[in-house]
Amino acid sequence: MELFLDTANVEEIKNAYALGVISGVTTNPSLIAREGRDFAQVVREITAIVDGPISAEAVSLQAPDMIAEARELAAIHPNVVVKIPMTAEGLKAVKELAAAGIKTNVTLVFSANQALLAALAGATFVSPFVGRLDDIGHDGMALVAEIMEIYASYGFDTRVIAASIRHPLHVIAAAKAGADIATVPYQVLMQMLKHPLTDLGIEKFLADWAKVAAQKQA
Ligand code: E4P
Repeated sequence: MELFLDTANVEEIKNAYALGVISGVTTNPSLIAREGRDFAQVVREITAIVDGPISAEAVSLQAPDMIAEARELAAIHPNVVVKIPMTAEGLKAVKELAAAGIKTNVTLVFSANQALLAALAGATFVSPFVGRLDDIGHDGMALVAEIMEIYASYGFDTRVIAASIRHPLHVIAAAKAGADIATVPYQVLMQMLKHPLTDLGIEKFLADWAKVAAQKQA
């Protein structure tokens, strides 16, 4: 499974990418708004840091407008993937964009049928929102597993991004469900790498090592 970073914060992306475990980035209009910066400029900066798929979302609702927006976003860099909302107009846009060689990430997916339609339309990626389903009392990760099963049965090329990841257990569950990718907030990535026993272990090793150094000097 691959990990993408789910943020539009360039500093977080630099820090996370330096760890060598991130192979792409996803943004959305809310994440971009949080930064209070020019959208295209942020996307450009991210493409300069990360050599992998960078999702940037179209905000139009009609297919022709989505397609025009997608063309502008895709022109920023070959790694840009255009996020398209899972609607009837979105599907029409995905079909045309696929034919034009523009990569898409169908977002706001909450059912296996929506994921099936996205794959049939030619989406490059599909993003089931795990956390938002959990929030309303549904099993978000069961949806990821269902989509993986359906895609495997028919050999769809569309890659599944477990999105709306809220905590480290979500990442483990996404990996067990066979998700191609999990897109994680920076804070979750940091939680994944930390363990109190690792910190305690280092502290103990260093304390013991200091004793060895002291014995040598004595
Ligand atoms: C995915 O591509 C979205 O940007 C993101 O995962 C949404 O997460 P949220 O439900 O925590 O806002």
